[in-house]
Formats: sequence, C-alpha cells, structure tokens
Amino acid sequence: MTQGVRGTRDFYPEDMRVRNWLFERFHEAALSHGFEEYDAPLLENEELYTRKSGEDISQQLYNFEDKGGRKLALRPEMTPSLARMVMARSGALALPIKWYSIPQCWRYERTQRGRGREHYQWNVDIWGMEGVEADAELISVLVHFFKSVGLSSDDLVIRVSSRKVLEEVLGSLGIAGDDFSKTCVIVDKMDRLPPDVIEAQLQDLGISPESVAQIQKILGIGDLAGIEDALGSGSDAITEIQSLFSLVESYGAGGWMEFDASIVRGLAYYTGPVFEVQDRAGELRAICGGGRYDRLLGTLGGKDLPATGFGFGDMVVMELLEAKGLVPDLSTGNSDVVFGMGPELRGAAMTVASTLRSKGRNADLVLEDKRMKWVFRHAERIGAERLVMVLPDEWAKGIVKVKVLETGEESEVSLDSLC
Ligand code: HAM
Repeated sequence: MTQGVRGTRDFYPEDMRVRNWLFERFHEAALSHGFEEYDAPLLENEELYTRKSGEDISQQLYNFEDKGGRKLALRPEMTPSLARMVMARSGALALPIKWYSIPQCWRYERTQRGRGREHYQWNVDIWGMEGVEADAELISVLVHFFKSVGLSSDDLVIRVSSRKVLEEVLGSLGIAGDDFSKTCVIVDKMDRLPPDVIEAQLQDLGISPESVAQIQKILGIGDLAGIEDALGSGSDAITEIQSLFSLVESYGAGGWMEFDASIVRGLAYYTGPVFEVQDRAGELRAICGGGRYDRLLGTLGGKDLPATGFGFGDMVVMELLEAKGLVPDLSTGNSDVVFGMGPELRGAAMTVASTLRSKGRNADLVLEDKRMKWVFRHAERIGAERLVMVLPDEWAKGIVKVKVLETGEESEVSLDSLC
C-alpha cells in the first residue's frame, strides 16, 4: 500500500526543496532570455501522438479510454501540445513565439538509471524563425542554466549535428520523405541495438547493405572538417552548421559545443539542426535533447511554421549535480519560529506571528504547549533563522525576545520593530 506506481516518484518536503531549486534555475534561464511560460493539460487526445514512424515514444504511450469512450493519453512529451496550442491560434500570435514550460511527462519506459516512467521536462521553444539565430539562442539558454548551477564545459558537451546532413546523404541514396524520417528513427538506435537488428530494420525499408555501410560511415564522423570532406563544401547542411557554430561562438559559448554526426535524435519530426547534451565522462543518459522541427504543424493538419526547441529532463541532471556536490544545502530557510510561553500567551503569540507574516516573513507558530528544549530543537531542525519568544514579563511591556539561531545572539525587541 505504501508503494507508488512503478517508475514514479514521491517528493517529500526535502525532495521538493531540491526540485524547486532546480526549477527556479530553469525559470531564471528562460526568463533571462525573454521567454514566457505556458502550460497545457497532462491529458491529450491519443491521436495527437499516433505517428507511424516507429518511434519508441509511440510504443511507450500511457493511453486509455475515458468513461465517454474517448481515446486519451498522458502526454509523453510537450511538443505536440505546444504545436496544438500554436495551431489553435494560428495567425493570431505575434511571431516569433518564445515560450517555455516545465511539464510532467509520462512514458512507459524500462526504468533504469536516469529514466523513469514520469519525469519533469523543461521545454524551451521558438516558433516563427527560420534562421539558426533561434537555435543559437537556445544553446545560450542552456549554457546560462548550466553556469547558474555551477556546471562547466569540462562537465558537459552539447553535441550537434543536422538532419540535413543525413538528408543529403540519404537523398543521394534515393531515400526521402517518410522513409527518411523512419530511417532517422532507426539509425538513432545504432548505439543501443545490435548491428544486425539495425541492418534488418533498414533493409525492411528497402535500404541496401551498401547504403547501410555508407550511412554508418557518415555517422561515425565526429568533427566539422570530416563532414565537410564527406559532403563537399557546397553543402547547405554544412553552411548552416558552420553558421550555428560561429553564432554560438559570439555568445562566448563555443567551448560547450561539438559537431557529432551520430546525433540524429529518436523523434521523427526533426528537420534541421539537432543536439543532445551529454556528460563528458559518458556515464549518464542524455541530459537534454532538441532540434529544429519546421514541418510538425503540417503533419498535424495545419500550415507549417518553422520551430526549434529542446526538452530537458530533471532526472539525469540531478544525478550529475549530486555526483559533483553542486546541490546547495537547502535546509536553511529564513523562517521565524514563534513560541508563546504557556496557554495564556497563545493569543499574543498569534498576534506576533500575524505581524511577522504581514511583513513578509515566514513564521512557523508553535501551536501546542511545548517545552523550551523542544522548541529549540524544532527551530534547528527546520533551519529557522530566528526564534521569537513571547514571555510573560516582556510581553507585559510590549516586547518579545529574539534569538538568532546561527550566532546565539539574543535581543529584546518591540513588536513594531520586529521585522
Ligand atoms: P526527448 O529526447 O524524447 O525529446 O526528451 C528530452 C529529454 O527529456 C531527454 O534528454 C531526457 O533528459 C528527458 N527524458 C526523456 N524521457 C525520459 C524518461 N523516461 N525519464 C527521465 N527523463 C526523460 C523530447 O521529448 C522533445 N519533445 C524535446 C523537444 C522540445 N524538441 C523540441 N522541443
């Protein structure tokens, strides 16, 4: 009975403090770049996610029929909800749209380190801009966040490629349209599935063993010069990637980003630059993933609008922050503990607590008869800053006793000057 659903987490107050601290950093990074927050329901119509590209996410859907026979699903990601919202107001929203959100997402995944069946995913997206300036701005948001929690480019790397690189390679092999996105979804699994399984899946799509070898060769390229050699300097994909690198350099964030052709991403809708953030030690799953998806609205029956964004889970980054000792000690709040000596001073203690609260202090009032020793221990346990004691003689003069817990310093203060 005490066990929750497999792969889900309870957040006790000490966990909530950490979660709120992390989310505050998410909010701050997005707001500092001019993004606005939005939200959407956890429940969506299942058809929003029924894509036929063989993506893992489609097989991991938490779906059910409601009492009215509607086919619904818990959102596995935020992007389709965002697309739905943008489409619903198409033409009425001022472009570019720069929005962010921190939704809980649900996927029936195999639970493992860094992967659960629910996670919170910070989403930051820009709609209505075709140029890589938008993609570069997203990288800047990410770097701002990482710096704000004390992570550096020694800890992390943003690995970037472009679907256009693969599009050029696969196009020359005659693979385009739906087959192109299906191929991307398969090759994204190359590092997780045995080569014969990947080859069989590609051959099912009609891709010859020679073409498979060619794809593998390209995906093995880990630097810009190498991919330029392979595709030729006239390649649009290369020009675009080069310009993204140079813009990111202007933000002073060049050291965070590396080209890596093996970054393909497992979602079918990406169309341009794609990226993932990984720990340099290579011990953890992807911390964040995103990219450009200019044709998603079209697949949902709307008019295409260029878009780019990323999703950033709360689980893997917390593992990294904990391993590096970067989670601050959050037990020290700034609250006051208010204590009235004996039942006759309970009313006075309530007046003192109300005064403190109305002045913006967080005041925890001791509501029962407790011994002084208990009150001290309690104040220490909750990390209070001050203990405000309402004692008979002092209160008769309109004064309370204040003890600063860190220094032990005591003073007598009138109610008016308490804050
Ligand atoms: P995604 O790569 O599926 O992309 O997920 C993005 C991030 O969410 C991952 O890098 C990881 O941090 C986290 N994540 C995903 N699944 C789990 C899980 N089961 N447990 C814990 N964390 C998880 C997307 O969802 C895209 N919609 C992102 C996006 C936004 N692209 C453009 N805009």
